[in-house]
Amino acid sequence: MESEKGELPPYSAVERPQWRQRRHFRRSRGMRFLALACLGFIVYAQWRQISSPKVGSKNAAALSVEKLEADLATCSRLRAKPQDPIGLGRERNARYIDGHKPTLIKNATVWVGEPVQGTSADDAHAGKGYSWINADVYLEYGLIQTVGKDIDSAFLSPDVLVWDAKGRQLTSGIIDMHSHSGVDSLPQLVGNEDTNEMSSDITPYVRSIDGINPLDHQIQVIKSGGVTTSLVLPGSGNNIGGEAFVIKHAVGKSDGRNETSATDMLADPDRNWRYMKMACGENAKRVYGKVGEHGPVSRLGESWEFRHAFETAANLIQAQDDWCDQAAAIGVDNMASYLPQELKWESLSAALRGQVHINTHCYTIPDLEAFVDHTNEFKFPIRAFHHAHQTYLVPEILKRAWGDSPPASALFADNMWYKAESYVGSEYAGKILWENGLTPIYVSDNPVLNAQHVVFEAAKAFGYGLPYHAALASVTTAPAERLGLGQRLGKVKPGFDADVVVWDSDPLSIGATPVQVWIDGTAQFDDPVELVKPFTGPLDASGDPVNANENFVEVSDVIFTGVAKSFASEGLSAQSNDNLTVAITNGKISCVGTCSHEIQVTSNSGGRIIHLKNGHLAKSFVAFGSLIGLNAIDAEKDTDNGASTENFSRGVDGLRLDTKKLHYAHIYGVTRAISAPKFTGGATHFGTSVGFKTGALHTLQEGAIFADDVAVHYTLDDTSKRAGGSVSAALGSLRHKLLKAVEANDTASDPFSEEAFLRRVVTGHLPLSLTVHSADGIAGALKLKKLVEEAGKSEITLVIIGGAESYLLADELAAAKVGVVLAPLLSYRNSWDERRALTGAPLTNGTAVDKLIDAGVVTAIGLEEDWLVRDMAILAGIAYTNGGGRLTEKEALDLVGGNVYKILGIKAPEPAEDFVVFEGNPLEIGAHIRAVGSSSKSVTILE
Ligand SMILES: *[C@@H]1O[C@H](CO)[C@@H](O)[C@H](O)[C@H]1NC(C)=O
Ligand SMILES: *[C@@H]1O[C@H](CO)[C@@H](O)[C@H](O)[C@H]1NC(C)=O
Ligand SMILES: *[C@@H]1O[C@H](CO)[C@@H](O)[C@H](O)[C@H]1NC(C)=O
Ligand SMILES: *[C@@H]1O[C@H](CO)[C@@H](O)[C@H](O)[C@H]1NC(C)=O
Ligand SMILES: *[C@@H]1O[C@H](CO)[C@@H](O)[C@H](O)[C@H]1NC(C)=O
Repeated sequence: MESEKGELPPYSAVERPQWRQRRHFRRSRGMRFLALACLGFIVYAQWRQISSPKVGSKNAAALSVEKLEADLATCSRLRAKPQDPIGLGRERNARYIDGHKPTLIKNATVWVGEPVQGTSADDAHAGKGYSWINADVYLEYGLIQTVGKDIDSAFLSPDVLVWDAKGRQLTSGIIDMHSHSGVDSLPQLVGNEDTNEMSSDITPYVRSIDGINPLDHQIQVIKSGGVTTSLVLPGSGNNIGGEAFVIKHAVGKSDGRNETSATDMLADPDRNWRYMKMACGENAKRVYGKVGEHGPVSRLGESWEFRHAFETAANLIQAQDDWCDQAAAIGVDNMASYLPQELKWESLSAALRGQVHINTHCYTIPDLEAFVDHTNEFKFPIRAFHHAHQTYLVPEILKRAWGDSPPASALFADNMWYKAESYVGSEYAGKILWENGLTPIYVSDNPVLNAQHVVFEAAKAFGYGLPYHAALASVTTAPAERLGLGQRLGKVKPGFDADVVVWDSDPLSIGATPVQVWIDGTAQFDDPVELVKPFTGPLDASGDPVNANENFVEVSDVIFTGVAKSFASEGLSAQSNDNLTVAITNGKISCVGTCSHEIQVTSNSGGRIIHLKNGHLAKSFVAFGSLIGLNAIDAEKDTDNGASTENFSRGVDGLRLDTKKLHYAHIYGVTRAISAPKFTGGATHFGTSVGFKTGALHTLQEGAIFADDVAVHYTLDDTSKRAGGSVSAALGSLRHKLLKAVEANDTASDPFSEEAFLRRVVTGHLPLSLTVHSADGIAGALKLKKLVEEAGKSEITLVIIGGAESYLLADELAAAKVGVVLAPLLSYRNSWDERRALTGAPLTNGTAVDKLIDAGVVTAIGLEEDWLVRDMAILAGIAYTNGGGRLTEKEALDLVGGNVYKILGIKAPEPAEDFVVFEGNPLEIGAHIRAVGSSSKSVTILE
């Protein structure tokens, strides 16, 4: 309930002495404030006397009659049941700003977002009745007015803007149902961090809108990915985090808005529905609980915190309803008390009254089960479980939740393993939930993932077997429905808000990028950069059936036919032919071509011959700079090698093999990894990296380690100050050590000491790998290289990991023959050091990878986080597809393979021994690995 304008907040009398104690105002300022407040109150009281004849009249119990009447009016607001606001039937969108011209988008290929009329529910679930249609789309007064063939502009307003889509695909704006944009502005700065109110575990009374910073540049970056609407949630540090708000990504006059304000960004200015964030599991107990002081310190305690809060809110509701009933029965003037109200519990009681859509972060079965139990105990529905990693295992628990419809699951496509509660998850979760009649929704949790690319999450889910229409729904109609805005957002139909995106390629294809985005009918980009891409039209939506069972076996001999392309046949006699055969004998490729002899032998011996439809053969991939092999669950110390800012160490000494991360690396074709110990945390490095096989069982297995010490790593980014006190001290200390190494002898007493490894660096025998994003940090590294080379009269090999701003020094890097391992491939200015990163079309012409390649820098793609092991080919695919023809397919695959070895100056494995066989093109969505060879006597076959 919002308090009426002019009404004193009901809690003021109780709260005032408290804030005087708590806040340490300087006395003079405090007194001045008090005097002003008194004056204000006198003016206010006088105004009330003039404006309201009843002021001062009291009832028999000496209560203000005027306030009692206001309380009675509040009763009907308390009991109001919101409905989803209408779409069709509006003359104009409440967000429409006068003066914006109507727009006719001609010749688009449109995804309406629903099946044709008359499609049964079962058929619709199966995707029947959905299709891309050729149509024009007319936008006026912030609404979609008409979707139809050949709309004649002669019948439209004379000032209509006509925009030619040239047949490209048009969808409704993408919706991200889990974002912290605005409250967790990028680049992240302590002063701008407003995600969680950590003063208490239960803070239903705080509101994300009070922290939304419209100037967060990331709001624009997100829009450049076609995202027009986001649910801005408070963080998950406390069990009840507070109210959330749905915003549209149009900010200020330049985006066609009235003013630069969060209120102006609200997707529904009438605020029909309210939203709230809750969170179960690890965070609240870890972040908030203090043993001996206050809970929760366990999931048990969390459930109690929830139940106690719901009980308090339910009691307030009961007291209010009793009061309202009595006031109605005996007349409000006869009441002996005012309506019980408490701002602290107002929003949670509104939630229990069904006015607030609750979104709860829960990963694990116990979390889901406990929360479903709360919904039944206190009778409230839940719109979606967020993170929801384990929901795919327990559809029946979700169906037990209170209310008309089970909660949706708001998911990442394949980001997992970062903490214990995310250790169990599946890239097939969306498909499995869908098959069980539940709703997957893909979200960014921006800035956890870059919300600009939330549609890539849906695309990956499609690749992992979620039907095409359900994958598109997961970022359009499904979140719209769950937000209670299903008649306004998510579809391209008359009466819907005019938020539309025209894409340069199918939105579920790799690297799909908007050409233009409209919000409430206003084009958002004045001069959008359009990527050079061949026009292809919609993907084959049928997709191949995907087997989520991940059965795999080791065999020594197998034959694949139907291989359309080989990217790995150097030294193997391959004919160019779209039906190559690849024969594998003793785990090695023995033939690429017609291979009649091998087919004959295998047929005779009853060996396996697997027929592919669109097979591709590629060299295997390598993960450089991740923590795989040194960590199993990012946040769990017991599974981790640890971090040290003091002690230089060797990755080989910390390897712990046969983990889930390594298993997935192997079956996703990342057969080798080069990992160094952490300096402070993820994506920082200190020590020597070890090269090893991801499929090995332990470090003594034959061939498990291919290089004990691959490179010597230091971190020079912002985190470097945590050791030496400053960034300058970190660079200075490294310079000192390197110059000392120039002076030193080759016969160190400990050949595994830092000094000994640096000696090998300065003599050009080991690469020096520096983790750094900022352009000046990289410039410092280049100067250091020159200085040390001059002092030692020997060339050194320098590698940059990170490199968000490296493109600013592309020519200098090329001249110095320094390779760059981009981690991430697409920086989104997360940290201050990355603030000038290029975020890509339509905002920037290309990204770092394009500029580096143009300058001739040897470039590779690293892993900023370990879960990316599944996505190496997809990342190469983005660089390829959005590279405007800079890269051939083979060169793109080298970004995650050959170039790493080239940059480090080490030998790559033989393609005949380390390879991957795909069904489908690895650079496209939907390719599936069928075989992985990794320099061993057998090959892994995936069924
Ligand atoms: C925009 O501002 C004008 C006054 O400047 C106001 O009349 C109008 O209602 C505002 N529109 C919206 C949608 O806020
Ligand atoms: C629509 O676009 C397609 C693809 O560019 C083109 O072939 C076709 O001629 C266009 N149709 C019209 C009516 O402009
Ligand atoms: C983008 O940059 C390339 C050079 O890398 C240039 O050829 C192209 O014209 C640019 N495109 C735009 C839209 O500026
Ligand atoms: C491809 O070649 C194999 C082996 O020669 C053969 O069995 C298969 O039928 C061929 N497939 C097609 C589509 O021609
Ligand atoms: C290098 O070796 C020489 C002779 O063995 C010795 O005199 C000198 O002190 C050594 N230098 C360093 C820096 O250890």
